[in-house]
Amino acid sequence: MQFVDLHTQYHHIKEEVDTAIQSVIDSSQFIKGPIVSTFEQELSKYLDVDSVISCANGTDALQIALMALDLPKDAEVIIPAFTYVATAEVIGLLGYKPVFVDVDPLTFNLDPKAVEAAITPQSCVIVPVHLFGQSCNMEAIMEIANKHDLFVIEDNAQSIGGKVKIDSHWKTSGTISHIGTTSFFPSKNLGCFGDGGAIVTNDTNHAQQIKMIANHGQRQKYHHEVLGCNSRLDSIQAAVLNVKLKYLDKYISARQHAADYYDHHLSEVDWITIPHRVDYSTHVFHQYTLKVADRDALRTHLSKLGIPTMVYYPLPLQAQAAYAQYADERVLTKSTQLCQQVVSLPMHTELDESTQDIIIQGIKSFR
Ligand SMILES: Cc1ncc(COP(=O)(O)O)c(C=O)c1O
Repeated sequence: MQFVDLHTQYHHIKEEVDTAIQSVIDSSQFIKGPIVSTFEQELSKYLDVDSVISCANGTDALQIALMALDLPKDAEVIIPAFTYVATAEVIGLLGYKPVFVDVDPLTFNLDPKAVEAAITPQSCVIVPVHLFGQSCNMEAIMEIANKHDLFVIEDNAQSIGGKVKIDSHWKTSGTISHIGTTSFFPSKNLGCFGDGGAIVTNDTNHAQQIKMIANHGQRQKYHHEVLGCNSRLDSIQAAVLNVKLKYLDKYISARQHAADYYDHHLSEVDWITIPHRVDYSTHVFHQYTLKVADRDALRTHLSKLGIPTMVYYPLPLQAQAAYAQYADERVLTKSTQLCQQVVSLPMHTELDESTQDIIIQGIKSFR
C-alpha cells in the first residue's frame, strides 16, 4: 500500500502528459517557453485572480512574496507554530523575525485571537497557512490585518482549489489577501513532475515587483532595479501542470469522496478525532489527519499491517533547533500537543474503498 499513488494517476493521463512534454522537447524552449505563460493564464482563470507568477517552488514563492513587500529590517512576521518549515525559513533568511503563534486544535489553522495577541509595533505581515486542505478563517484574519495595517500572505501550498466564504461569497483559497503562494511539489493537490510554485495577487504593483524579483530584479534584460533571485518554473513542468489543471476539480472530488468514506467509518470510533470541517471553507483534503492520544503505538500497529501513515508535523517550529533563536516567553501548548497527536492516513486521487476498508479495519483492530 502506498501513502500517495502518483504512478496510477499518471497512467490515467499518460497520453496527454507525454504529448505535452514531447512538444516542449520538440520546441527546445525549456526556459520561459510559451507554455509557461499559457499555464499562468489558465491558473489565473481557474483561481479567478488577476496575476499568477510562476516560480521554482513553494518556498521561493513565499520568499519572493515577502521580498516584494520591502519590509523594514526589524519586521516581525506572524506565522503558525504548526506548519511546514518553509513558512518560517524564508522569514529568517531575509533577516526578519518569525513570530510563532498557536493554532486552533480543531482546525489545525491559525487562531485569529492568538494572532491579535502577538501583534507588536514591529509586526508587518501575517502568514496564514491553509493547512491540510482547509482555509484559515480569512474574514477574521483580514479584519485584524486591516485594523493594524498589516500585510497578509496566504501560504496556500496545501489548499489549491479550495473555496472560502468571504462576506457571504465563495472565493478561491489563496486569493483573499494581498498575496497568495502555492507549491506544485509532486504530491500536492496540483503537482508537477519535479519542483514548481506560484505567487498570485490582485494588486498590479505587487505583481510587477514579484515578476521582477523572480527574474534577477530586472524588468529589462541586464538592467537590475532591485535585489532579485532566479526562480523559474521549467517549461516541462508547466506543460505537465497545464494538463493536470484540467483535472484538478476531479482530483479534489476524489479526495473529498475518500475523506467522506473515512469519516463515515471512523466517526463512531470514540478514541480518535476525525478532521473538523468548518462552514467558511471547503476542505480539499491534501491530508486526512486524525488526532489520537497514543499515536505512536497506533502507527507501529498499522505499520506491522503494511499500512503507511505520516506525521505532519512532529515538532512545533519554535521547538526546532534552528528556530530557538526566535523563541519568546509565549507557551504554545496547543501546537505542541497537536504534534504529539496527529497522524495522517493514506490520501490521494486513486484511493479506492477496498484499500480504505483495510486501513479502517487496521485502525479498529488497534483496540
Ligand atoms: C505549507 C507549505 N508551505 C510551503 C511549502 C514549500 O513548498 P516547496 O516544497 O515547493 O518549496 C510546502 C511544501 O511542502 C508546504 O506544505
